[in-house]
Amino acid sequence: MSRTALIAAMHEELAALLPAIEDARTEQRGGREFWLGRLGEHEVIAVRSGIGKVAAAVTATLLLDHYQAQRVLFLGVAGGLGPGVKVGDVVVADALLQHDMDASPIFPRHEVPLTGLARFPVDAAFSAAVARGAAAAIAQAGRSTEAAELVGHPSRVHRGLIVSGDRFVSTSAESQALREALPDALAVEMEGAAVAQVCHAFDVPLAVVRSISDRADDTAHIDFGAFLSRVAGPLGLAIVQQALRF
Ligand code: ADE
Repeated sequence: MSRTALIAAMHEELAALLPAIEDARTEQRGGREFWLGRLGEHEVIAVRSGIGKVAAAVTATLLLDHYQAQRVLFLGVAGGLGPGVKVGDVVVADALLQHDMDASPIFPRHEVPLTGLARFPVDAAFSAAVARGAAAAIAQAGRSTEAAELVGHPSRVHRGLIVSGDRFVSTSAESQALREALPDALAVEMEGAAVAQVCHAFDVPLAVVRSISDRADDTAHIDFGAFLSRVAGPLGLAIVQQALRF
């Protein structure tokens, strides 16, 4: 079985998952706490990266270079950008892009200089398994009260572009500008594309799954807080448990 790295940016996104790790031991490295153990028959290493692209890239590099993780699953919350992407829905990335990367006119806008890439790939098979896992987790969470109450509508799983940048998007003007620049972007967060760049460099399979905590607009900070404390943790655990079954 492959050694799977599980990364989330914030404490709340991993809080439910860490106690579920069997035979857990922890190691400190690079200012991070790595949890090594098992989830069922899978060897896992879970770690909180911290927020933003640099924090995520450092964490991913440690996981790949020091811990030799064989695949990476990044989980957490994101702001919804796509028209049908609602709070409580789940987005599984099929590519990731840094929306604040701009070395134009020397390189095309959004392209990471000297990589030739703006959109970094994910692993198709692993991401398909994660999407199936997310659908199963939603079916499970739909029966639980908290999530269903807060969300108030049946959640859906979307596949598509996730964009990342070092900015919490919390005005309608900002999210509109992102939609204009990147019309197919489904969700915005602050880490995924950085991890995708590192996984690409090491040629290690990646999947990124995000539950939608807010619509990246003027009410984003309110929805974000409530979702984070009440839904993100349990939903994250359910998604990981289900995804590892496929
Ligand atoms: N993560 C969750 N919501 C977000 C938002 N609105 N902007 C950036 N990252 C987020």
